[in-house]
Amino acid sequence: MLTKDQVIALLNPIKDPFLHKTLEETGGIEQVTIKEEKNHVSVKLAIGKVNTAEQMQLQQELVNLLKKEGAATVGLRFNQLPNEVIAKFQPTSEADTSLLGEGSGTKFLAIASGKGGVGKSTVTVNLAVALARLGKKVGIIDADIYGFSVPDMMGVEERPTLRGNRIVPVERFGVKIMSMGFFVEDNSPVIWRGPRLGKMLTSFFKEVEWGDIDYLLLDLPPGTGDVALDVHNMIPSSKEVIVTTPHPTAAFVAARAGQMALQTDHEILGVIENMSFFESKLTGEKEYVFGKGGGDKLADALQTKVIGRLSLQQPYDEGEFAPSVYQEDHPNGQEYRNIAAQVIAKFEE
Ligand SMILES: Nc1ncnc2c1ncn2[C@@H]1O[C@H](COP(=O)(O)OP(=O)(O)OP(=O)(O)O)[C@@H](O)[C@H]1O
Ligand SMILES: [Mg+2]
Repeated sequence: MLTKDQVIALLNPIKDPFLHKTLEETGGIEQVTIKEEKNHVSVKLAIGKVNTAEQMQLQQELVNLLKKEGAATVGLRFNQLPNEVIAKFQPTSEADTSLLGEGSGTKFLAIASGKGGVGKSTVTVNLAVALARLGKKVGIIDADIYGFSVPDMMGVEERPTLRGNRIVPVERFGVKIMSMGFFVEDNSPVIWRGPRLGKMLTSFFKEVEWGDIDYLLLDLPPGTGDVALDVHNMIPSSKEVIVTTPHPTAAFVAARAGQMALQTDHEILGVIENMSFFESKLTGEKEYVFGKGGGDKLADALQTKVIGRLSLQQPYDEGEFAPSVYQEDHPNGQEYRNIAAQVIAKFEE
């Protein structure tokens, strides 16, 4: 014969199917009565949502459990928890499920540079694809709110969809993508500033259904402006790679972006030297059209290493095409694979 205390002890660890908290935590056990003469247990429970398939299943489980423990018959009644209790336990987008939440296992990598046009976006896109090719779950936030380019570079023509009030990112080459470009008609310029801009970036983190991704890459706008700073502050745990061209002056400018990373405690994973050389198809000879040594100089200044050098070359005009995505067997595709492996190693060390 079960006692009231025994029944409560049995029910306490059971989880509310909606709030994913135990009945003990939600205070969901409202009443337990035992009719000794008939060995009948009657229970009133409150859960997050009533009259659902989940309730039916819970009901079944509880009846089985209580019978197994000795009750002859079981009566169950369900009520809905008060709204304030539900609100308290509901997993909100701001808390547990957010990429930035404490429980998130996502690793952040920001792609920065001192000046524009050195290939940050190209690097972001290709590094993301390379990580995905190595089996990682990857997302990109195109944090260049004004100068978005990721959707075009990846050849994305779809727009994100909504699931409930959450934005479902577009996926291409196994990479989930979120960009301001999806929300602008006819490629018109974005003229938001200040708070609105900050809010947009926050939305990209909090209102997008990223799922459990391993790596989130952020394509930063050039330089050390507001957005770069916002990102630094928003994701203190982010690491960074700095992109430069081989020209010594470019490296000098890039060092400023690096300094900012250091000031905000972002660890610099390494330097990527883009457009390092041009390799002649005919002779295989390398020509250093944009100068030489910039990457090494920058890496020295930031006390880090050059983790990759990309040649000046377009993707092949074949296969699953996107304007800026190098194929796996392309020399730059192979170099990106190499870089991705180093990135993984550094994050996992
Ligand atoms: N290794 C490369 N070989 C040939 N072209 C390249 C290479 N890397 C980048 N490009 C081209 O150079 C241009 C600038 O690259 P990208 O847009 O990636 O630079 P960015 O640093 O993101 O620029 P912005 O500062 O404007 O955001 C693009 O047209 C891109 O296709
Ligand atoms: Mg860019």
